[in-house]
Amino acid sequence: MATVTSQPGRTPLIAGNWKMNLDHLQAIAFVQKLAWSLKDAGHDFTSVEVSVFPPFTDLRSVQTLISADKLPLAFGAQDVSAHDSGAYTGEISGAFLNALECSYVIIGHSERRTLHGETDEQVADKVAAALRHNLIPIICVGETAEDLEQHGPSAVPVAQLRGALAHVTTAADIVVAYEPVWAIGSGQAATPEQAEQVAAQLRAVLVELLGQDVADKTRILYGGSVKAANIAGFMREPNVDGALVGGASLDLAEFASIVRYQKHVGL
Ligand code: PGA
Repeated sequence: MATVTSQPGRTPLIAGNWKMNLDHLQAIAFVQKLAWSLKDAGHDFTSVEVSVFPPFTDLRSVQTLISADKLPLAFGAQDVSAHDSGAYTGEISGAFLNALECSYVIIGHSERRTLHGETDEQVADKVAAALRHNLIPIICVGETAEDLEQHGPSAVPVAQLRGALAHVTTAADIVVAYEPVWAIGSGQAATPEQAEQVAAQLRAVLVELLGQDVADKTRILYGGSVKAANIAGFMREPNVDGALVGGASLDLAEFASIVRYQKHVGL
């Protein structure tokens, strides 16, 4: 069997960002079927970690199901407040997400940056909040088509990562997701070479700011029009350790196939 070897110490992570899709009843059905279908296919969850990111209102249901049935899936939220508690109507504290046994939280997704005006400073505060509450932040960075034309591929993602890490000083458990904005939901993914080029630059920033050890163990994901047909190409790249999957994470068979990318290699 052909295999893709992950980098030593970095377990590949396939993360499904559901965005504002699936209510809590649909979430229960989906997560149950996903776990069954991966188990049926003999998926080794220790070789490729699988996580889902449902809307806030689904999290309690997903937690209850995963914990009751001991499903080998991780889950997290799509955003977190920079504050721990208080008069912040509509916001969700990292303390609440931690109490729901979330492992991860997505921070600084381009839709939050574009549609909700999130700045690098706010992203940095949210990253700090996640770490305060023992959540692993999945820090999203990526350039728009305009940025790409004006500054090349890595300038904006590198600057965003530096900004996001403003309050991270010690060895921290984080994940970075490189998501070119032009590739999100467009059907036009970056090439594996493009993803690798930026991922390598992002890892260099991690070395500089957090040291070699943290940089070596930090997973860098690619996101933007990932599907079963293109995942294996990204996973062959040495600095790409997984994927943040949007649209294709809502299609059970497609998502399961992405998770099982090691089976596609050599096809
Ligand atoms: P997409 O979204 O896979 O639908 O392009 C990725 C994302 O927004 O995280």
